[in-house]
Amino acid sequence: MKKRAAAKPLSENKHLLRWVEKMADLCRPDSVHWVDGSPAENAALCAQMVAAGTFIKLNQKLWPGSYYARSDATDVARVEDRTFICSYSKEAAGPTNNWVNPFEMRKKLRGLFAGCMAGRTMFVLPYSMGPIGSPMAQIGVQLTDSPYVVVNMRIMARIGRPVFAEIDRGEKRVVPCMHSVGAPLAKGQQDVAWPCNQDKYIVHFPEMREIWSYGSGYGGNALLGKKCFALRIASNMARDEGWMAEHMLILGVEDPLGEKTYVAAAFPSACGKTNFAMMIPPAPFKQKGWKIWTVGDDIAWIKPDAHGRLHAINPEAGFFGVAPGTSQKTNPNAMAALAKNTIFTNVALTPEGGVWWEGMTDAPPAECVDWQGNRWTPAIAKATGAKAAHPNARFTAPAAQCPTIDPAWENPEGVPLSAFIFGGRRATTMPLVYQAFNWSAGVYTGATMGSEMTAAAAGTIGKVRRDPMAMLPFCGYHMGDYFRHWISMQKKLSETPRIFHVNWFRKDADGKFLWPGFSENMRVLKWIVDRARGRALGRETPIGWVPRHADLDWTGLDFPPEKFEALQAVDRAAWRAEVIGHEELFLDLHDRLPKELIFERQLLICRM
Ligand code: GTP
Ligand code: SPV
Ligand code: MN
Repeated sequence: MKKRAAAKPLSENKHLLRWVEKMADLCRPDSVHWVDGSPAENAALCAQMVAAGTFIKLNQKLWPGSYYARSDATDVARVEDRTFICSYSKEAAGPTNNWVNPFEMRKKLRGLFAGCMAGRTMFVLPYSMGPIGSPMAQIGVQLTDSPYVVVNMRIMARIGRPVFAEIDRGEKRVVPCMHSVGAPLAKGQQDVAWPCNQDKYIVHFPEMREIWSYGSGYGGNALLGKKCFALRIASNMARDEGWMAEHMLILGVEDPLGEKTYVAAAFPSACGKTNFAMMIPPAPFKQKGWKIWTVGDDIAWIKPDAHGRLHAINPEAGFFGVAPGTSQKTNPNAMAALAKNTIFTNVALTPEGGVWWEGMTDAPPAECVDWQGNRWTPAIAKATGAKAAHPNARFTAPAAQCPTIDPAWENPEGVPLSAFIFGGRRATTMPLVYQAFNWSAGVYTGATMGSEMTAAAAGTIGKVRRDPMAMLPFCGYHMGDYFRHWISMQKKLSETPRIFHVNWFRKDADGKFLWPGFSENMRVLKWIVDRARGRALGRETPIGWVPRHADLDWTGLDFPPEKFEALQAVDRAAWRAEVIGHEELFLDLHDRLPKELIFERQLLICRM
């Protein structure tokens, strides 16, 4: 066997040292690099990627500290059909997850990983999900052959020496995460800018708390702290330990009295979490003293405190946000967050060394290079339909750079939650907002959520699918058991958050959005917060409580009652079809469905 370059370990943990040794023997990298997380190390890795053609350094006057990457055209989003939950039993994974017998899968992975890092460096990347030392934080170590992953994870999580120190304290179990782009280099073989493999495996062993990812370098497939750990593995930990790992943004609403109300909201991928988390209220609201504070934009870990109130932390340290559609107009806070020290992937590159994407500015640049490296002009786009940026192009930006980042965002105990909001992308049927009658009705609302599919995952865009709690691709065990866990959480609480459902995406007969969205969502959020604090009125309907036109604050927006009625309409024929859609999901989950949800369904049908 070829001799590996010796590396000085940054940890004294015997288990960690042995595992790294064993995995290096399996993957056979040319060298091993223990990631210290320092700025110097980051600079060296970025320079190395610029030399290799993976990164382009952006014009530093326009985009200080920022880099640009183009992925392989076949590696642009999460691959849900290649994502596996390999629990001991198939039943434990449930019908909504892909399952392979774990012994078989391990054999398969051993084959794939054997020699897979040849010609590359294996990075030992320690990371903490949640502020280091927080009782709610968890630790992972990712072994990866992708420097792109290392520099992205440096933004998305807390990494490096302080995490090794935490590991050496030995108080927390470490989740081992294996990652390879699956592109070993033969001696003298020239590397490509974005190495990956057509064969992809995103594998979770929930009982062993282990992750193995092969063949992709993109997003949730490769930044293993995010969906693999913070949702799929963490949902298993949370069920066992009495907390919740959710695909939710967290925000704080400051009212004119200076009081803050925190809410968490679950919208499916590319359905508006980042936008909602960073919302700027319309001018009249701002003048009255309303302000939104951002805690997180994608993931929430939620736990009851000693008094039975739910508290939430954002386990991440950065935003991996959808670029297209993000602009000074729609989300100035995101634009400020990504103004420097950001990595852009699959957006377009402008001649002056800047970035652009559809929707960033009203007028497109006269010319740029698109996400596939081809010349792009508005005329070419018109003729061929070519997009300058891939619809799932993303920015990786430090959360601390967001102007509305909440002063409590790194509070080790988290922030107290007063409401949950569920929402999908629905052109019809679902009103702008309603409030569930109580906890179990609210769990039913989340459990039966539907949404049109987006570019965040490979699949049929636009098709409505059931995406319970926005967790369909992220729940690491049986969805029926997950609903049961939600139902049972109430028993631990002295105060249950109120539960709401929103839909920013309802369309009229001409296919135009009925609701302006973005900033204007503040009007809905104010009603939600006021309801949660018992200071707003509503009207009872078969699906829940809804605001009347007069119950929302319309200052500064001309939105007549007729239009509002159209937006809030509950059409019985459409709801009939909707309820049948719920039943289809329930049929799949029937043997583990909590009886509360069956009763809720009966009650809903009776009320309809
Ligand atoms: P993930 O990071 O994939 O989990 O997604 P996310 O939920 O954070 O999605 P994001 O906020 O990036 O949503 C992106 C898409 O939603 C863009 O196409 C936005 O234009 C659109 N969007 C966000 N808010 C609104 C809204 O209020 N109204 C409308 N019509 N579109 C919105
Ligand atoms: C999502 O798809 O929900 C994301 C992006 O947040 S990724 O990290 O790629 O999963
Ligand atoms: Mn997400």
